[in-house]
Amino acid sequence: MKKILLSAIIGCSFLGNAFAVQADAEAGKTKAAICGACHGMDGNSLVPAYPKLAGQHPQYITKQLQDFKAALNTGGKEGRNDPIMGGMVAALTEQDMADISAFFTSQTISASTAKANPTGKKIYLGGDADRGITACIACHGNAGEGASLAGFPAVNSQNVEYLKIQLTKFRDASRNNDMNAMMRTIASKLNDDEIAALADYMSSL
Ligand code: HEC
Ligand code: HEC
Repeated sequence: MKKILLSAIIGCSFLGNAFAVQADAEAGKTKAAICGACHGMDGNSLVPAYPKLAGQHPQYITKQLQDFKAALNTGGKEGRNDPIMGGMVAALTEQDMADISAFFTSQTISASTAKANPTGKKIYLGGDADRGITACIACHGNAGEGASLAGFPAVNSQNVEYLKIQLTKFRDASRNNDMNAMMRTIASKLNDDEIAALADYMSSL
């Protein structure tokens, strides 16, 4: 039987609970069927504004699901507030979240047709010291692969439109589930053209 078992420590310090659950990707596939309408059955969303989940780090996916639920339960005071995703996670248990995350992680992200925008590349690789913009590569990696344990998401081959929306949300702080405001601080210094350029560059990776 093709079963991928990941021993995931779902330790979300924000929620104050730390316990281990055995993630079952095969069970996750069944549980994720309902997500396919928007994210693609294999996690490769065809809708530009919706994120691809294929190949994303399991810890990151699980944290987002917990954050959507936290926002739902606190009227948006905590977590990540999104009217669509709030409804989707309402009934998910910690086990469901771990299984679904393991399934999407095990899928391969589809290629993007985005071009390696030179303005985006410059900021991504070098940041802008004068304006206090940290280089994205420091956390999201040379190939946009992120860092699983540190909670830095993969951004490579992601839908351009989705990336633009998220940077804009961090900029106006309507997405505020980033620890120590690390993304809000950076995004607050980016203009619309830079956000578009960075989205293109990340997607091209
Ligand atoms: C009706 C469409 C829809 C359905 C169905 C749906 N989602 Fe989403 N999902 C979205 C949208 C839209 C966003 C982006 C929200 C935002 O802008 O912050 C999102 C974001 C996410 C994210 C954050 C990804 C990232 O890179 O940060 C995860 C994880 C996620 N969804 C998982 C799921 C799972 C698991 C299911 C099934 C239980 C599901 N979604 C069902 C529309 C949907
Ligand atoms: C100090 C580390 C750090 C740096 C530097 C950084 N990021 Fe991030 N980024 C994060 C973390 C952490 C998250 C996830 C926050 C969360 O939801 O837990 C994130 C999330 C994102 C997301 C949302 C991904 C998704 O799937 O929803 C985008 C897009 C992004 N960063 C782009 C950038 C860009 C562009 C830069 C450079 C201008 C940058 N980041 C610099 C740490 C960083």
